[in-house]
Formats: sequence, C-alpha cells, structure tokens
Amino acid sequence: MANVVEQLKHLFMPKSVAVIGASRHPGKIGHEILRNLIEYGFEGKIYPINPTAEEILGLKVYPSILDVPDEVDLAVISIPAHKVPHVLEECGVKGVKTTAIISSGFGEIGNVELEREVLDIARKYGIRILGPNIIGVVYTPSKLNASFGPRDVVKGNIAFLSQSGALGIALMGWTITEEIGLSAVVSLGNKIDIDDADLLEFFYEDENTRVITIYMEGLRDGRKFMKVAAKVTKKKPVIVLKSGRSERGAKAAASHTGSLAGADRIFDAAFKQSGVLRAITFEDMFDWARALATQPPVRMNEAVIITNGGGAGVMATDAAEEYGVNLLEPSPKLIETFRKYMPEFGSPKNPVDLTGQADAKSYYGAVKAAFESEEVGAIIVLYCRTAVLDPMDMAKAVMDAVKDAKEEGYVKPIVVNLLGGEDTIKASKELNRKGIPSYPIPERAVKTLGAMIKWSKWAGYLK
Ligand code: ACO
Repeated sequence: MANVVEQLKHLFMPKSVAVIGASRHPGKIGHEILRNLIEYGFEGKIYPINPTAEEILGLKVYPSILDVPDEVDLAVISIPAHKVPHVLEECGVKGVKTTAIISSGFGEIGNVELEREVLDIARKYGIRILGPNIIGVVYTPSKLNASFGPRDVVKGNIAFLSQSGALGIALMGWTITEEIGLSAVVSLGNKIDIDDADLLEFFYEDENTRVITIYMEGLRDGRKFMKVAAKVTKKKPVIVLKSGRSERGAKAAASHTGSLAGADRIFDAAFKQSGVLRAITFEDMFDWARALATQPPVRMNEAVIITNGGGAGVMATDAAEEYGVNLLEPSPKLIETFRKYMPEFGSPKNPVDLTGQADAKSYYGAVKAAFESEEVGAIIVLYCRTAVLDPMDMAKAVMDAVKDAKEEGYVKPIVVNLLGGEDTIKASKELNRKGIPSYPIPERAVKTLGAMIKWSKWAGYLK
C-alpha cells in the first residue's frame, strides 16, 4: 500500500477532478462545488458527471465516471447517500485515487451499514475517502477549491481541519474577512477513512503549511492521533479546538458527527503529552496560528513590553504572568538605551512606557533597540490611539524596525496590539499583511506569545 502522504497528494494536488452529481441548477451543492473549482482557478482538468446533462458552466458533462477519457485523481461525490455505493464501485473500476464524499445520511444518523458498505468498496479498490458528510476540500497552493464554502480563501500557510462542515464554512468566511492566510481547509465529517492523524502526516511533510489547526469533536483512534501528533508537533505547531467539553456538549457532538467524545480530561492529558496546543475558542486558535505561522520560535523567555499607555502596559503585565510570559528585568545599559526614546517622565523599565507623547520615532527606536539587545527574547508592542500619533504611522514605524532589524540579522518574535477605533483596525490589518501579528487588545497579543512559548519549549527551542 502506498504511504499516506503519497495517497493524500491525490487529494490536495490532483491533476484531474471529477464532480459526481454536478448539478445544472445554481444553488444546488453539486453546482456550487463545480463553480468554486472553476472560479478559484484550478488548473488541472475538471470533469462534471451527471447522466442528465450535457454541459454545465461551459464544461462538457459525462454520464458516468467510466466515460471520462482520462485518469481521475479525485472524485467529489455529491449525490444522495443511497446512491454513493454504486458510483464508488464505478470509481474503483475507473481507478480513481481519492474521493471526497459530500453526502450526509450515513453514520451521523445511525446509517452505519451504508457507511460500512462504502468503506468496504473503497478498501476493495484502494480508494481513500474524505468524509462523508463534509463540505469538501480546499488546498490553496493548487488553486483547488472543491467545496461548497466561500470561494476566495486567502492563500497562506495555516492548514485548517474541521470535523464540522457548517463551522468549516463559517470560519472560511471569517478567515477571509480577517485576512488569515490558509494553505488548506479540510472538512472531515464522519472520518470513516481519512482521519486527523492521516492529515497530520501529510501536513508534516507539506512545505506550504507551517501550522495545523483542528476543530475536533472526537477521535476514533486516539492512540494513533497521539503518536502522530507527538512527532508532528516537534516540527510544526498543532492547535486543536476540541469541543464537547461539558457532558451535554459531548452528547451534542455524538449526534452531530457520531463522535464518541470521551471524557474531556483524557483529551486534555493526551494533548499535553503529544505537544498539542489546546485552544478553547476560535479566536485563540487563529490568533496563535497567525503568530506561529509568521514568527520565529521563542528562544529566550525574556519579553519586553513597549507601550505608549501605562494602563495597557499594566494589563499586558498581568496577562504575561497568567500566560507564562516572563518579563525581562532590563540591565542598566538597556534601561539607558530605552531612555533615549522617551521624554523625562517616561519609564524605561519593563513595561517600557514611551508615554502618550510617543511618536513614530520613539516606537521605531525602542522596537529596534529591543531587537538589537541580547537580553530580549520576545517583543510585545502596545499602542493606545492618541491624537499625536496616527495608528498607521505607528504601524509603519514597527514595520520599519522589524525590516531593518531583520536586514541586520536580528530575528526574534514580535506581537503587537493596537487599541482604539476604526483607524487602529486598519493599521492592525496592515501589520498582519506584513506578517507582524497584531491584535485589538493587549491580552490577546500576550496570550498568543504565551502559546508560542509553550510550543517553543515543546519543540526544544527553549529550555
Ligand atoms: N451520477 C452523477 N450524477 C447524478 C447521479 C449519479 N449517479 N444521480 C443523480 N445525479 C445528478 C442529479 O441529476 C442532480 O443533477 P441535476 O440537479 O442537474 O438534476 C445532481 O446529480 C444531484 O443529485 P440530486 O438527486 O438532485 O441531489 P441533491 O443535490 O438534492 O442532494 C446532496 C445531493 C447535496 C449530496 C444531498 O444528498 C446531501 O447529502 N446534502 C447534505 C450535504 C451536506 O450538507 N454535507 C455537509 C455536511 S456539514 C454541514 O453541516 C454543512
């Protein structure tokens, strides 16, 4: 049997894709998947399959997969569940490598026999199955959007795996608004074949992915997941949002995707043992992913806070203690350096308070000094909107400091918080676009650094 990474290349980097159940009717799932495939720019061959149509969205339609005059790497199946075994059998005869079964109506509603039948056919022919009960799969480096989710997924290097289809769609939309760049969106559904561990194996090797995020309701094979996760997390951060934490939540998960959620504390212990970062909210998950995907590992847990607002500095200091971020006691030499970038009434200790009078030069100087200092392991930059410093100018000062420091060979993690109204959100977005993770409140920036420290320790960058 081919190894799982090779098999999954057919799912993520197919040369040709068939959509079985490509509908003539806009608004139907099989139509929208075909449209996404075309309009997201997939450059391989696309074969719509439908026995009752001749042409859909300008493409020639084939009555059956057996009529396609070419090899098919991936078949996306979007027909009612009871018809799936028949077409899967045909896929087997055709030599299709992988399938993504969109159809609902399997184990999640107790239809386990149908699920078994489908799996038996797949095993007979060596076909890998994603799903069933899914929204599809997206892999941005291949310009592949074989899903009925939003189309314009932003390219990046975070893989997002979701057991829930609806949450998958919703969060795809959210990542577009938040400009969070993704390498992949994988809907897992009932996971009758391809599971989280298989996908971890693929993304471990995948050079387009730096961080793996998972929305999980349950696992069929916890041991397999732990074993693979323990390996993968040494190389790439894996962030899991496992729902069903409460007893009632676990029951809801069971009826949603047929998951046996199991005792939450067992998951918690398993995640800790395998180096998985556990997020409790989506906000945490993507906050951390954004930073872990763009920043170098933390090599010294000695952070400095640079701020123009004393209050924000105090909030960040409290958060630092809560999230395991150690705040540096700067040496007299470093204190003197920071003093150059503030008025007399500023505070050069940590937090470094540039005061409300701070301008772009103060930020540039202090941030650059933090990069240059051997004492500083990580940098937290805070900004409260003032009339003397436009947020975009502040953001630009930070960007320039990061760029110049990098050119001079100084590499260390930085997280930013801009606190204020509409224009701070814009400036924050600009920082994110430049790969400098920026958040709307100080705690989120500090909590993110806390997660980076946790992972850096696990992966051996930090003692
Ligand atoms: N081969 C190829 N095409 C076929 C076949 C076949 N054997 N049989 C039927 N078709 C065609 C149909 O003619 C139809 O095309 P048309 O609209 O041009 O006539 C098309 O395939 C689709 O078939 P329908 O019978 O119309 O099925 P429909 O589109 O209504 O439903 C679907 C299929 C979407 C898979 C449905 O059964 C289903 O499972 N829906 C739920 C899917 C879902 O939500 N999945 C994710 C769950 S997660 C979440 O919460 C979002």
